[in-house]
Amino acid sequence: MKGFRLQRGLAVAASAILAAAPVGCAPLQARASSDAAPPAEPTRSAGEKIFDKWCSDCHSTAEGPGSAALQRKYQGKRPAILEQRSDLRPNYVKLAVRHGVSFMPSFRKTEISDDDLALVAAYLTPSQGRTP
Ligand code: HEC
Repeated sequence: MKGFRLQRGLAVAASAILAAAPVGCAPLQARASSDAAPPAEPTRSAGEKIFDKWCSDCHSTAEGPGSAALQRKYQGKRPAILEQRSDLRPNYVKLAVRHGVSFMPSFRKTEISDDDLALVAAYLTPSQGRTP
């Protein structure tokens, strides 16, 4: 009886290992194929990636709540979509992000670090050369 139980235990363990094997191999395959292919988006700036993650839901399309609020605020005198603005200054972007504006939430340093915020601010202010 004892021997039988032990054997059964081994069988269960063996089938568990077999079942796990293909899963264990999958990440290796994925890694190998991504090594072979060049990065999909080599030219996208780091700031744009951060913007896409934290800001684009509200700011990237005209329908976004951020764009809609800015359309109401500026009545078309400035583009409603942040990425089309040429008048933004890095410090203003940082202020808006750390403190929030109207119903735009503020973002903590644990969400967007100071370094990342500098990248987003630079991304939204392509005219960096001008005096702030
Ligand atoms: C939940 C939606 C939401 C998210 C997410 C969001 N915003 Fe906003 N944002 C708004 C709204 C709404 C306003 C406009 C408030 C107002 O003045 O009426 C705004 C305003 C701004 C302004 C001020 C523009 C101006 O001319 O006054 C800046 C700059 C800005 N957002 C940057 C960002 C950045 C950078 C991020 C990402 C880190 C971000 N926002 C994420 C909703 C959002």
